[in-house]
Amino acid sequence: MKKRIIAVVMALFCTTALIACKEKAGKAGGTNTDGLLNKGKLVVATNASFPPFEYVGDDGKPDGFDVALVKSIGDELGLKVEIEDMEFDSLMASIGTKVDASIAGMTITEERAKAVDFSDPYYEAVQYVLVAKGSKTKTYDDLKGKKIGSQMGTTGDLLSEDIKKDENSTEVDTYDKAIDAVNDLVSGRLDAVILDKNPAEVFAKQYDKIEAMDGKAFGFKPEQYAIAMPKGDVKLTKKVNAALKTLKTNGTYDKLVRQYIETE
Ligand code: ARG
Repeated sequence: MKKRIIAVVMALFCTTALIACKEKAGKAGGTNTDGLLNKGKLVVATNASFPPFEYVGDDGKPDGFDVALVKSIGDELGLKVEIEDMEFDSLMASIGTKVDASIAGMTITEERAKAVDFSDPYYEAVQYVLVAKGSKTKTYDDLKGKKIGSQMGTTGDLLSEDIKKDENSTEVDTYDKAIDAVNDLVSGRLDAVILDKNPAEVFAKQYDKIEAMDGKAFGFKPEQYAIAMPKGDVKLTKKVNAALKTLKTNGTYDKLVRQYIETE
């Protein structure tokens, strides 16, 4: 009898230890780095409708600051970079399943950091408010009860929802592409569009009728863009951060900022 109890206890102990071991291995092993670094290719998703960070170039291929930056990171790591264009709202679910990483002017948020690992930040942004020229909308309170547009799944979308929570009569319209929201603003179907600083400035320049206002006046906080990678892919995150550091110290990063962001 005593022997049997010992055997059962031993068996239980062994199974628990095995499960614990397996779990640890799963975590430490990460999602897919080794395979992918050996393949010599990094598949990176973006949403190429966010100038100057990503847009479809004249040759029909994704271009922009983020695209150039991640290609330079690939060069540093000896990896060929393949860009896949998709809806912004599909990026999170694709990281670690369909693609190895994403670069899309994506802001680090607590919620996203639960599902992916972020690189070190590579750009500071803030949400801007696009309005018709001469509009009286100048503060956060002025946005309450207005018709606000934003790109689906973005931080601008979250802020619009916050305004709606504060004032239920606010109408929030979300779009697959920010440019579609901008067009609705230009044609008067929206009162405002909440969108990241640099794309907002690009669109404000393209359309005479609208202007871009600094979101700081609306109480919007600075945001940090980072590259998103599969959760637990420590090796890849380390390599990407090391490459980012090199590009910042060797002048490549500044060159790309001048080339794509500070164009005048
Ligand atoms: N920074 C915002 C966010 O992370 C918007 C990013 C949109 N990017 C894009 N490529 N469309 O939610």
